[in-house]
Amino acid sequence: MIAFDEALEDGPRLSRRQVLQGGVAAAIAAMFGLPGCAAPGAAGPAFKSVPLSKADTLVVPEGYRTDILFAWGDPVGAPAGSPPFKFDASNTAAEQALQAGMHHDGMQYYPLPYGSSDSTHGLLAMNHEYHSDGLLFPDGAANWSAAKVAKVIAASGVSVIEVEQKDGAWRVVRPSRYGRRITADTPCTVSGPAAGSDLMKTAKDPSGREVLGTFAGCAHGWTPWGTYLTAEENFQDRFVNAGTQSALQKRDLIPAKSRANWEIGDERFDAGKHPNEPNRFGWVVEIDPYDPAAKPIKRTALGRCCHECATPSLAPDGRLAIYTGDDKAFEYIYKFVSRDRVDATDRAKNRTILDEGTLYVARFNDDGTGAWLPLVHGQNGLTPAAGFRDQAEVLVKTRMAADVVGGTKMDRPEWIAVNEKTREVVVTLTNNVDRGATGRPGIDAANPRPNNLLGHIVRWREANDDPTATTFRWDMLVLAGNPDASLAAWKGNFKGDAFANPDGVRFDPSGRLWIMTDISPTRLNKGEFEMFGNNQLLMVDPATGTFRRFLTGPVGCEITGLVFTPDGRTAFLNIQHPGEIGGESNDPKEPHKYSNWPDYRADGRPRSGTVVIRRSDGGVIGG
Ligand code: FEO
Ligand code: CA
Ligand code: CA
Ligand code: CA
Repeated sequence: MIAFDEALEDGPRLSRRQVLQGGVAAAIAAMFGLPGCAAPGAAGPAFKSVPLSKADTLVVPEGYRTDILFAWGDPVGAPAGSPPFKFDASNTAAEQALQAGMHHDGMQYYPLPYGSSDSTHGLLAMNHEYHSDGLLFPDGAANWSAAKVAKVIAASGVSVIEVEQKDGAWRVVRPSRYGRRITADTPCTVSGPAAGSDLMKTAKDPSGREVLGTFAGCAHGWTPWGTYLTAEENFQDRFVNAGTQSALQKRDLIPAKSRANWEIGDERFDAGKHPNEPNRFGWVVEIDPYDPAAKPIKRTALGRCCHECATPSLAPDGRLAIYTGDDKAFEYIYKFVSRDRVDATDRAKNRTILDEGTLYVARFNDDGTGAWLPLVHGQNGLTPAAGFRDQAEVLVKTRMAADVVGGTKMDRPEWIAVNEKTREVVVTLTNNVDRGATGRPGIDAANPRPNNLLGHIVRWREANDDPTATTFRWDMLVLAGNPDASLAAWKGNFKGDAFANPDGVRFDPSGRLWIMTDISPTRLNKGEFEMFGNNQLLMVDPATGTFRRFLTGPVGCEITGLVFTPDGRTAFLNIQHPGEIGGESNDPKEPHKYSNWPDYRADGRPRSGTVVIRRSDGGVIGG
């Protein structure tokens, strides 16, 4: 433990008490290695905060511009063809399978050629989290049929597109040998300890080694060898089991009444008839954007849950850690540590890095210490008597294994980001209104708000700043809220612009922290939540620790997917589910009742989309 404490002494450090008492600005300055608030000579951000917005448009600071690049239905530029989007939503399933899926989320930029750091030509890989049936079909969610399910399945999954910048403007290259859709029907290989397990076998796949499709990918990850990781999140919503459910199906929250109707088109989504089919989802899936022929691979060693992200951190000795959160109330944060070292010279040699290693669950102690508890069969009570026959069963039942070893139940972990310069790690906890409710877990230091409506961000440092460490120190980075609110519970504990429900979080190439919000459509601009306006993107000013609102989105959207080119001069951002309001389905008769972003056509409908953000003078975003 001496080495651990020493390691923490020489880095930027703050006490938990300091932060909880409201010293967030000083804490953030420390995080960036600055001496304190308003460090002398430190340049402030090169933008003025934008105001709250309820408008159906994107707003960015003066001196910046946004352009729509790739919206739902736009062709990916696959060699097989580029069918144009039809604004009456009459594209067929086959056409949809060559176009952007719905509801873009986690996104990564891959320079071309591989190995370069080109900031004007590359690939974007992104997942398409879910579908809004009121917009996807001319007749909305009525008249379900197998043909409709086929289109939904084609609108789910992942897109890879080739993008290039010419004369300051970005465009999708069409056609492109890289242009590709992976859908909820694309064959994927299963690898790692759960591959071939009885728990993964189905009538159609007696090998337990090949799954059709990936879906419900939310945030994402990437690897040092240039692959994309899609994190399967709310997979359970595509299944139904109206009959008796197993303990695992109950823990997975498989609905008793169909929500997505997928079983109408493909019986495997009836989990009563095919009880192991849900076990084949809820994984992190590796995709090689540089090789359009490569099959996606479900990496079971990283565990199974509602993965929100899969954020990498390369250890000094070359082993790779991947952080992932389980975005459900009272679920856990996990870390996978590879057994083998990454080979930076030969990407093919990294084929099995994500198959062999140790999965841990995080325990956040109230005194600011923390531990990574291994989820290894035979250890910490993970025995056959406790319901775990082997490591495959530990991984399929990751949540139940985490219960046994005693992880800390968190307030919906969303994105995790690693500051490459300081090695600090931050995680957004988006909300948890059941915290402290009768019969539910009460508050703890890492989840300190009862009825946590607004969310918070926790940060930690691994012992010796080594991502493979099994202990860490943590503190509260920020409690979200509105510094101008009259009620203390709504204030938060920071300086700057009001925000709630942090979801996406990313460090840019200069190490500045960016936060994306996802106030749910049932609360957005309703009641007290009016004080937060439409969902937004904020940057934390490293010199002062002030939170500054950089962008507000159109009506009903969430902000997600932020990624920068290596030079920091272009940002790509995803605007997800514009027009989703109050939990109502979009009305197919009036598709642009709430939002008509980004096309604003008389016959238009709102479309999730990727936007490009540039500074008018070509400078570094936020710099
Ligand atoms: Fe899909 Fe957890 O946001
Ligand atoms: Ca989302
Ligand atoms: Ca999210
Ligand atoms: Ca979210």
